[in-house]
Amino acid sequence: MDKLIPVVVIKEIEDTEKILSALKKNGIDCAEITFRTSCAEEAIKLACSKFPDMNVGAGTVINSEQCEKAIAAGAKFIVSPGLSAGVAGVCKKHNLPYYPGCVTPTEIMAALELGITTVKFFPANIYGGLKALKALSAPFPQIKFIPTGGVNRDNLEEFLAFDKVAAVGGSFFVDEALNK
Ligand code: 3PG
Repeated sequence: MDKLIPVVVIKEIEDTEKILSALKKNGIDCAEITFRTSCAEEAIKLACSKFPDMNVGAGTVINSEQCEKAIAAGAKFIVSPGLSAGVAGVCKKHNLPYYPGCVTPTEIMAALELGITTVKFFPANIYGGLKALKALSAPFPQIKFIPTGGVNRDNLEEFLAFDKVAAVGGSFFVDEALNK
């Protein structure tokens, strides 16, 4: 999987190409387009047709209905801020990776029961950052984390250096790419 996952918020559909080509120019071939704006579905569709070689997924997917819409639009992976059994079921049906937000042992156990072994750790800075990931890895050595929320250029390498970190997510990748 991609090691860097930009959290992309598309406010206007016209911004889709500008943001994705900036990411690509910056060496990032992945984009998590969030279902926080009304044009998310359309933006995923557009991103998949204009950038077929990029790994375009959907973020902030909080229910099965959004998940079906995201997958129909072409999303190749699904991310949620928390864990939804409904979303997990839809992803399983379509055989697509699902990264639910899990920050407590109970949430991680719920993910494991659904057959999920890679989870988003969000908001990473609030829930203890790398220290928390290391503590959680003791009882859950089979779990890989995607810390997101408060990840930036200063702490990125530290997160990536930990072998239980599958990838890091953040909106700062977009800001960086656009400001280059
Ligand atoms: C997310 O939804 O994953 C967060 O909004 C990303 O957090 P960040 O803006 O601190 O990177």
